[in-house]
Amino acid sequence: MLSYKVDCADPSIGLMPFAIVDRRLLVIDQRHLPAAVLDFDATIFDDLLLSIEDMVVRGAPTIGLVAAWGLALEVERLAKAYLPDGPALFLEMLHVRADRLKDTRPTAVNLMHDVDMVVNGVRDFVESGGDRVDADNVSRLAFEIAEDLTSANLDSNKRMAEHARDLVPDGARILTHCNAGALAAGGFGTALGVIKQAALDGKRPQVWVDETRPRNQGARLTMFELMRDGIDCTLIADNMAACLMAQGQIDLIITGADRIAANGDVANKIGTYGLACLASVHGIPFYVAAPLSTFDLSLDDGAMIPIEHRNIQELIDPEDAMAAPSHARAYNPAFDVTPSRLISGIICDKGVLRPDYQVSITQAFKLAKGDA
Ligand code: MRU
Repeated sequence: MLSYKVDCADPSIGLMPFAIVDRRLLVIDQRHLPAAVLDFDATIFDDLLLSIEDMVVRGAPTIGLVAAWGLALEVERLAKAYLPDGPALFLEMLHVRADRLKDTRPTAVNLMHDVDMVVNGVRDFVESGGDRVDADNVSRLAFEIAEDLTSANLDSNKRMAEHARDLVPDGARILTHCNAGALAAGGFGTALGVIKQAALDGKRPQVWVDETRPRNQGARLTMFELMRDGIDCTLIADNMAACLMAQGQIDLIITGADRIAANGDVANKIGTYGLACLASVHGIPFYVAAPLSTFDLSLDDGAMIPIEHRNIQELIDPEDAMAAPSHARAYNPAFDVTPSRLISGIICDKGVLRPDYQVSITQAFKLAKGDA
């Protein structure tokens, strides 16, 4: 059905961080990168939950897609077990599973979006009550929805890279934060897709990569992806970005997003807001790249976005190398919110949105509805 290949020779395809093989859901275990490329089997529902909670898979779009495929497998099991006795218990069990999945990580909204797409599609079909409602057809539908979400996501990534072409000059020196590449979003990725497109266009971009404390997604994952793609990249510690900006060594900044409110405020990996403030002081364009499934129009502004706090051991005892006294008090929010006034443009599948974001976001969604 789906496959991934880390050593994909064609850079225009990009890698997939998960695959369905013989009804098993296999994901690249991002905890081991860059040291080793290992699979994690997330077929069993409890393993699926763990894979998201423990960041075996991470990055807003990838989390959503893996959840959708894992839930489709669960639909198949639940439908066989409960549907012969009628829809009520089947739907109840499905909702319990979906809620548990949505609780695994609270900030990245693609998770809620993709899980709801599977649940709503299956529920509508089952409630239609026709002759065709049986375990086989219900399972087939759940897999079709997961497949559609995946191809739409890959398509969005390509479109974003295309729309952003004019934003990246020849030889641009670009700073990025966290990982918003193939591992986080499949195929081209989001922010890294823009950079990959510039490389494919022969612009020879030079990328500064924030290490992205405390989980080091930049150092471990973004450096892995960019080096694999042969793109010029240099790792920096997070606290070096200001100095590089003052020295005139950064032309633009591109990050991904985990959730975007209706007014354009962006929740992204902790540290993003600081970069946007620095960019504003130094007059450097600050762009965010994210598909429409990362927007949450039910929230007026960024203050309403739930921010995940993670285990403080990520700070005190990272990868079992004690970095602070073992009983240290620590504070570990995983995301921050960048106010839309600091964002030069939001690159989405419908184009590059500009302020006033309230207006441009509404227009992008109207356009998307027209496409459907
Ligand atoms: O906590 P993570 O690693 O799942 O963080 C999410 C991210 O990768 C970033 O915030 C990213 O910029 C958005 S997802 C493409």
